[in-house]
Amino acid sequence: MPPIFPTILAIESSCDDTAVAVVQNGRTVLASVIASQTAVHQPYGGVIPELAARQHLAVINPLVETCLTQANLTLPQVDAIAATVGPGLIGSLLVGASVAKTLSFIANKPFLAVHHLYAHVASNYLESDLEPPFLCLLVSGGHTQLIHVKSYTEMSIIGETLDDAVGEAYDKVARMMGLGYPGGPVLDALAQHGGGNPQAIALPQAKTKHPWDFSFSGLKTAVVRQWEAQTGSLETIPKQLQADFAASFQHTASNTLLKKTIACAEALGIKTISVAGGVSANSALRAGVLALQDLGYTIHIPKMGYCMDNAAMVGACAYFNPLAIDNLGLDVFSRIQG
Ligand code: KG4
Ligand code: ZN
Repeated sequence: MPPIFPTILAIESSCDDTAVAVVQNGRTVLASVIASQTAVHQPYGGVIPELAARQHLAVINPLVETCLTQANLTLPQVDAIAATVGPGLIGSLLVGASVAKTLSFIANKPFLAVHHLYAHVASNYLESDLEPPFLCLLVSGGHTQLIHVKSYTEMSIIGETLDDAVGEAYDKVARMMGLGYPGGPVLDALAQHGGGNPQAIALPQAKTKHPWDFSFSGLKTAVVRQWEAQTGSLETIPKQLQADFAASFQHTASNTLLKKTIACAEALGIKTISVAGGVSANSALRAGVLALQDLGYTIHIPKMGYCMDNAAMVGACAYFNPLAIDNLGLDVFSRIQG
């Protein structure tokens, strides 16, 4: 049985959000703070890795202090210090992991390394009673996977995207439609509130050789082609047309995710389903997954604050499933995966 660390100070800096949290027993969030870099990257329409790393460096130390103050704790009172070590942007990861490792030396507490995707899976343990086994639909900017979570530490990926991740497809479609960055939330808001018709644009649902795999590049290309065909000769794009595209894309993307998840859960005989990753904030996906409760499934979706990158999920993951590199001393940096 590995040692248990009840109170964990956790850091997440794998992409463009600097986040720090204190989590108790893997489930209770004492504090969770996030410094968003959206304003820094917005002018470029996407994340610039070098700017992301510099911005993490600029904000991380005061953010650790703010978090400990909010948790009403001092550094010596935490039992371990955790950080995401990959996958992610290498420069960004280095900042969070260096700070965590340094704090662990200063306070003489163990350093716990966390895998970013396992952390998203663990976001469903926060403020909930979820226990394995369950099926997790992991949907983020870089990944789309169906994961069979057999225990807190044993997981198998049983389906995944063969090309684009669903979040990536959202971001690219939003960009093409001129909706800006970050694309997913803006496209979702337009689909939800824009008054668009989800049936207005006929879009394909990709068929994959393996039924639980996903493919979103065909959907993305179909949207781009139809958008070009329908708006190419227009000087201004009618609001209704834009809303129709948003609603149709959202409908097709969320339906594909739901259909495959149900088919997979049925085939495996699993009655507990969770959703994790940034796209779990999506309104259509949340509504669709919650409706599965009527079919007898137990559903777990993270609170909105724990869907996108955050450090509370890193604290949960460090408690239940840290990577076994805490005793490697300084060598942790050679293990960071870009
Ligand atoms: O998990 P996350 O914060 O970072 C990664 O690990 O990738 O996920 C970010 C992704 C982005 O692609 C973003 O556009 C998408 O999640 N996303 C959404 C929504 N909120 C965030 N996609 C669709 N609807 C949303 N409401
Ligand atoms: Zn993420």
